[in-house]
Amino acid sequence: MYPIILSIDTSCDDTSVAITQGARVLSNVIASQTKIHRKYGGVMPLMAKLEHHKLINPTYQEALKRAHLKENQIDAIAVTYGPGLAIALEVGIEFAKNLARQLDKPLIAVNHMKGHLYSSFANNSASSPNSDIKSSDFPALALLISGGHSDLVLLKNLESIEKIGQTVDDASGECLDKFARLLDLGYPGAPILEKLARGGDSTKYSFPLPMTQSHDFNYSFSGLKTAGRHQIEKLNKLTSQNVKDLAASFQTAVFKALMYKLQKAVKKHKPKSIWLGGGVSANLAFRKILRTYCRHNNLNFYYPKDKKLNTDNAAMIGLAAYFQFQKKDFIANFPELQRIPRLSL
Ligand code: KG4
Ligand code: ZN
Repeated sequence: MYPIILSIDTSCDDTSVAITQGARVLSNVIASQTKIHRKYGGVMPLMAKLEHHKLINPTYQEALKRAHLKENQIDAIAVTYGPGLAIALEVGIEFAKNLARQLDKPLIAVNHMKGHLYSSFANNSASSPNSDIKSSDFPALALLISGGHSDLVLLKNLESIEKIGQTVDDASGECLDKFARLLDLGYPGAPILEKLARGGDSTKYSFPLPMTQSHDFNYSFSGLKTAGRHQIEKLNKLTSQNVKDLAASFQTAVFKALMYKLQKAVKKHKPKSIWLGGGVSANLAFRKILRTYCRHNNLNFYYPKDKKLNTDNAAMIGLAAYFQFQKKDFIANFPELQRIPRLSL
């Protein structure tokens, strides 16, 4: 039987509590704070902390209710301890410690990026999160693209995980959000750009392809953001068609940059599969580009099947926690567990 894990993620502006059993998601409740942060055009850490405080217990109760479970049926508590906003992470960690103490259950500390890494492997059957992964999928190359990260990760197997590239400045999601903000589109802007891009011409405006001179697998998006601003300024007065064309052209430029380094990493490391995760993976246009590339290059392509698993959620933390549960990787002394805002993979 697979353990029932209750997981918590309060790394940014979503309060999420989920219950997973192996690969199966029994509940995945996400209390979004987007409406609150929207008026500031970005996440306000203090507001996020206060909202997490307010929302964590009701979200927990809702997760139990939706899973039709009682507290005493839980086998372990998992919580994100980084990376993320320090004062937001603290709320989830305190709640998890108290719960683990009260229920006398093991506590598992999970790296948020490991959650994104395994988010493709939720499965609606009684199985483990690695049941879809075949030994012939290794080495695997993961692309984790979110509001805070743009990571390329090489997995020789499930135990050997190495980050081979990351952004040197802005993350891809952050770059899209900032461009959308320049166009006054609202927050978070990237999904709005995606919708507008469907009615736009992606070849209308050209943007530079960054980092072509660098020999590593790192990303950079701040130059693209500046080029985007210059293009908007050049147009002076924007028609609604201009905005659609800008959305399509800029989004495509970001995706080209993502693909450029991914392809470079594929050439060097010759992976057998590509794993996609993080909020930007919700973008259907990007998924199409990557799917086509994988098909042409004989690579197995894994991505989060459920929309909720793309952006921040606690179910992905539960999937990652499963592997730690198997190894009995538990926190022995609760006070020692502290948030690590800049935790790396
Ligand atoms: O993984 P995530 O929820 O949070 C972080 O860990 O950062 O990712 C959030 C990012 C934001 O930048 C958001 O605008 C972006 O993912 N995002 C999208 C889409 N939906 C969310 N980017 C592109 N297309 C989307 N449909
Ligand atoms: Zn995330």
